[in-house]
This record gives sequence, structure tokens and C-alpha cells, in this order.
Amino acid sequence: MSSLSSPTAAKRTAEAKQVLGDNDRGTYTVPTARLYPFQWNWDSVFVALGWAELDLDRAWKEITTLFDAQWPSGMVPHIVFWTDQSTYFPGPDVWGTTNQPLSSGISQPPVAATVVRNLQEVEPRLTINLFKGIDRWHQWWHTARDPKNIGLISVVHPWESGRDNLPDWDRPMSTVDSSSIGAYQRRDLDMVDQTMRPHRHEYDRYLALVEFGAEANWDDQVIGATNPFLVADPGVTSILLRAERDLAWLGRSIGLDTAHIERRIERLENGFVQLWNPEAGTYCSLDLRSGRHADAGTSASFLAAYAGVTTHLDQLDHELGLWASACNFLVPSFDPRHRHFEPKRYWRGPVWAMINYMIAIGFAEVGREKWAGRIRQSTRDLITQSGMSESFDPITGGPVGGSNFAWTAALWLSWVNKD
Ligand code: DGY
Repeated sequence: MSSLSSPTAAKRTAEAKQVLGDNDRGTYTVPTARLYPFQWNWDSVFVALGWAELDLDRAWKEITTLFDAQWPSGMVPHIVFWTDQSTYFPGPDVWGTTNQPLSSGISQPPVAATVVRNLQEVEPRLTINLFKGIDRWHQWWHTARDPKNIGLISVVHPWESGRDNLPDWDRPMSTVDSSSIGAYQRRDLDMVDQTMRPHRHEYDRYLALVEFGAEANWDDQVIGATNPFLVADPGVTSILLRAERDLAWLGRSIGLDTAHIERRIERLENGFVQLWNPEAGTYCSLDLRSGRHADAGTSASFLAAYAGVTTHLDQLDHELGLWASACNFLVPSFDPRHRHFEPKRYWRGPVWAMINYMIAIGFAEVGREKWAGRIRQSTRDLITQSGMSESFDPITGGPVGGSNFAWTAALWLSWVNKD
């Protein structure tokens, strides 16, 4: 185990700064140059934490650039196509959106309020405009992504969860008709080995959902009522619940009335219980089209404490112990004892630094320091061993996915190696 000031840690710190610099496009940061050559929503927001260690102006800029792409509906897109790049598919022509700047038609986990709170605590610079932008985005999640008004946030595309090919989506995705999808060329496989990426049949259905949204002109009501994929996600729901609490804090810090935010918090607190799957003994996604829970937990199940939900804490503590016995590094993205666990395939097993960061914060806040420390140490060991990789194999600790990844670098600087 290396210490905070060891030569290896110093080397990783230099590398992390280099990665942020290389991926910096002036007003936003790309996740990694060729695989993901635009601004990605939650990547960018986590990256602001890294910039805050180096240049506070640049950190705020990262976030305000993202909100420059907010739609009139309040939606903040998951990809903003600020430039024209041929190394990525599907580009703006496939999404068929009209809002300027061009973007995708779905969103991504709303971590902005929480990160803005972190920045605001370093030095208060929050503008009313940004506050209102985040507030409108949160409201959008409650209306557009809770069409049945049950107090749970759903995703209408696996990419909207940010956890693209999680086994949770297999069953709901199996009903998506992809027969109209013609020939296309994936670009991700030019850069990353196919054993680490989603399968072709998953891509076909990802594209079928994009086609469905484009044909509906990305109308939230049509999508909420008829999209073939509508799954309540413990990841997005937990992240939004946490973000709502942080938005209320931000509002109070600048003297605004936050009663409407408190009402939204209560809605999610009441809805959250529906994610508990007694058979699996953990929080699971809930397919709203079939009414069925997924049959196993994911790393997002452990975000309950981060969301401020402390029911079932002992069960989650116990569950994480079982996961820890089944792998060498925490926290795998999917239950390592399940038959669908794959330690190298994108979201079916690998460990992600930013998920670990959120889980560790939650556990620390509810007094489970043991897990918070262990998860941070695992992240440290992984990055020390494998560098600024997109994600990591929980069995071998090896690098998985893209390299030179901005959010891994940002979390090394702002959390993993911060004294
Ligand atoms: C991709 O293209 O793999 C992305 O994860 C979509 O956000």
C-alpha cells in the first residue's frame, strides 16, 4: 500500500494533471479523446471536482458550459456535440434533435447540484442563473421521468442511467424491437477491445430506442407514455435525492425559498421504498413496463446512504461484506456472485472511481467509516496499479475500457489522493 506522498502516488498525480490538461477543450473536458470526444454530462461534472484542485474558475466553467446546452424543457443532455468529430457513433444526425447546441435527446445522472455545493463551499460563486438551471433540471426529472407519479425516477434508455449495459437492463431491453435498424458502423470497437464493450444485439436496441425518441421528436409525454423501455433506477433516484438536498442547501445559502425542493425531497423519500427487493435483500431497479424488480443488486444499491436513506443499512452492510468476499477490489458494478457478472465487460462487473466516491461519502456520513475507508483504499490501489483507466477489473485490478480518463484523474486529485 502506497502512502499519500510515495513516489508512485506522485507519479499518478502528475499523470492525473496531464490527463485533465490533454482532455481539456477550454470550456469543457472530454472524458477521453477519441472514444468520447464531446462533453458528457456526468463525466464533466465529476471532472469539475478535479479542476477545483487546480483552477477554481475552470471548475465553475465546466458546469456552466454544460448548462449552456440545457433544453427549454429543463433537460440537460447526456452528450453535447460542441464540435464535429468522426470518431464517435451515434452522432447528432442519428439523435435527430433540434436544440442548439446539438446534443443527444436523453439526460444522465444529475450530480451537478452536489458538485456545485462542493465548489460553493470552497468559495461562494453560485449565480441565480445556474441555481435556476439546476432547479429546472431537477423538476424535469420529477415530471418527465416519473410519468406514473410514483416518487421514483426512471430512465428511458440504458445510456440515461450512465451504466449502459448493466444486467438489469437485459430483460426490459429484450422486448425492444430492433428489426428496423439497418447497417451501421460502431466506432467504440476501434478503440476498446470488444470483450470490454456491450454486445452487438445491445447496440441494436440502444439505436432502436434512439430512433423511437427521434420519431417522437423527443417529446417527454409521448416517451413517458409509450417508450418501450421505462425502468426506475436506484442510481439516478439516489443521485437525484442527494442532489435535491444539496440544491436546497445551495438555495438557502443564497437566501432563496426552497419549499418546493423540500416537497420534491419528500416525494422521493416516500417513493424510495419501492426499490427494495425483499427476495434479493437489496435495492434493485424496477421495470415499470412489467412491474418486476431486477433479481440482484448493483453498485448503485449501496448509494442509499448517499441519498440519505438509512432504512436497511445493516442489510446493505452485510451485503457489501458478501461482495467483498467474492472479489479483490471494491465496489464491482454488479453482484460478483451472480451468473451475469463479467469482471471486464463495461457495466457488468468493473469498478468505477466516481461510483466508489459516492458510495464512500454515503457510508462515511452514516458512521460506517470502515466501508468508506475500505472503498477509498480499493480505489487507490486500483489507480496506483492501473493508472487513469475508465474502470477496473475487480478481480485482477487491471485496467478496463478507455485509457486517460478524465473522471478517474479528477477523483484521484480531489478524493483518492487528497490528504
Ligand atoms: C457510449 O457511447 O458508449 C456512451 O456510453 C453513451 O453515453
